[in-house]
Amino acid sequence: MPDPQPKIIVTEDGSHTLYMESIHETYHSFHGAWQESDHVFVKAGLDYVIRSNPHRPINLLEIGFGTGLNALLTMLNVFNKNYAINYHGLEPFPLDPELIKNLNYIDFLENPHEVELFQRLHSSNWDIPVAIMDNFILYKHKITLQAYQPSLAFELIYFDAFAPGKQPELWTRDVIKKVTDLLVPGGILVTYCARGQFKRDLAMLGLKVETLNGPRGKKEMVRAVRN
Ligand SMILES: C[S@@+](CC[C@H](N)C(=O)[O-])C[C@H]1O[C@@H](n2cnc3c(N)ncnc32)[C@H](O)[C@@H]1O
Repeated sequence: MPDPQPKIIVTEDGSHTLYMESIHETYHSFHGAWQESDHVFVKAGLDYVIRSNPHRPINLLEIGFGTGLNALLTMLNVFNKNYAINYHGLEPFPLDPELIKNLNYIDFLENPHEVELFQRLHSSNWDIPVAIMDNFILYKHKITLQAYQPSLAFELIYFDAFAPGKQPELWTRDVIKKVTDLLVPGGILVTYCARGQFKRDLAMLGLKVETLNGPRGKKEMVRAVRN
């Protein structure tokens, strides 16, 4: 699936993303990788779940760990706070460490401690739990979503697969059912995708579907809540 070496490109907010020539697709919005991740996953997802479960640890699943940008912003948002996150990131195609070194996310960080946290996200081993901070345990699973069989349920899912037009096998109703069945009652899934068929599938599966304002450059995004 991935190019042997996707290319780094600069998005409109100055942050990097990766471009995969083989499927003509970027890892994030061209209108700003950082702002998209913050808007879709942190503001519409993490903040919402924290507001409704302020005292409970949050099991979080990310489909497509990629550059670790969503994990980084999640970590920064819980740094020195009273919330605990168990962050499970699925990634069958880990990126080359040399490529990761060249990503400019560290330029957006405020201090060396945050830079070290970003580096630890990537240097930590796969397939075992690693405490990146006391309240942030990272499990990077080198596996496809299709093969993943977890024994736990999640309060929050970041569904950050490539777009349905580029990777349709991750957006079938069966796969969406597999993913949403992993949510606890009241748990939520957030994604940048607001396609009609996707929203209809979520509704058919019994989820409450909210169409929210999208990040810059995109009209809408979706938050789905499991009853
Ligand atoms: C749109 S990118 C998002 C990456 C990431 N969230 C980030 O911020 O960099 C999609 C990611 O899904 C991964 N992916 C591809 N096929 C997958 C599969 N079958 N199961 C899980 N992840 C997959 C890709 O390798 C890529 O890292």
